[in-house]
Amino acid sequence: MIKSHKKRAQRVLNKIGQLNYFHDEKYDKRRNQLRKLIIEKTSVPIDKLPPDLVGFSIVQLTDMHLRPFTQVELIERAVIKTNALNPDLIVLTGDYVWHDEQDILDLAPVLAKLKAKYGIYACLGNHDVETDPVFITRIFEQHNIPVLINQGVNLTVGDSKLYLAAIDDAWKGEPDISKAMADHPGGNAPTILLAHEPDVIDWYADDTRISLQLSGHTHGGGQIVSKKGRGLVKSHLGKKYIRGLHRVKQSWVYTSRGIGSTGLPLRHNCPPEITYIRLVNGLIDRHSNIS
Ligand SMILES: [Fe+2]
Repeated sequence: MIKSHKKRAQRVLNKIGQLNYFHDEKYDKRRNQLRKLIIEKTSVPIDKLPPDLVGFSIVQLTDMHLRPFTQVELIERAVIKTNALNPDLIVLTGDYVWHDEQDILDLAPVLAKLKAKYGIYACLGNHDVETDPVFITRIFEQHNIPVLINQGVNLTVGDSKLYLAAIDDAWKGEPDISKAMADHPGGNAPTILLAHEPDVIDWYADDTRISLQLSGHTHGGGQIVSKKGRGLVKSHLGKKYIRGLHRVKQSWVYTSRGIGSTGLPLRHNCPPEITYIRLVNGLIDRHSNIS
């Protein structure tokens, strides 16, 4: 009974969220940041980072949730802003659709315009697994975007290796970190782990090869955040590391607020985010943001 009430309420919200009111240019005036894209710049210090990797840049885009609240136009703008950053690597950390896997047919061609020297890689989120992970993976791969599911790739940067790994979605899929780490080249090659849900860093941070986990899922705390930084919603496996950079043992986790919106057609104190990460050597931590 409760479930059908919830479904009906969501159907009504979906209709409301499609109204022009939420997608025209007056969003700032209305204090709804649904379309206000912010570039968050963060330096992540990694101990004994090989010199070839100092300054290596990664853009993370996540939680696009195409339709009904997120329209293609917002993704197109995110792609243009991302390419202007000229990143070395681009990663996509899941939840590409909300209810309908068919939306990937319109999203993938837009994301295929992303450009990065060392490629574009994706992992899956809970909504992708809940809709149709096989279909979503196939469409991405048709657009030359590899989807890593419990696997990793070695990127050669100068004379150094950077290991990029991803688990299956930890909530709705079957994550296997051993498989994801199986091709690690050894030595002090840092690992960037893509994991849709941030709190799983607690499961993996004992592995000192994992330098940084990149996650999304929380929408910064349910898209509506008080002035004191309290989020409206705590997501499953997204209760601890809700946004930004956190140190966990010898590793880091960065949680992006994501680009798209679900639940309510509203973002408040929580604008959509393009994440720009620079790897640096040592223990400094710098952060800035650009509209
Ligand atoms: Fe999610």
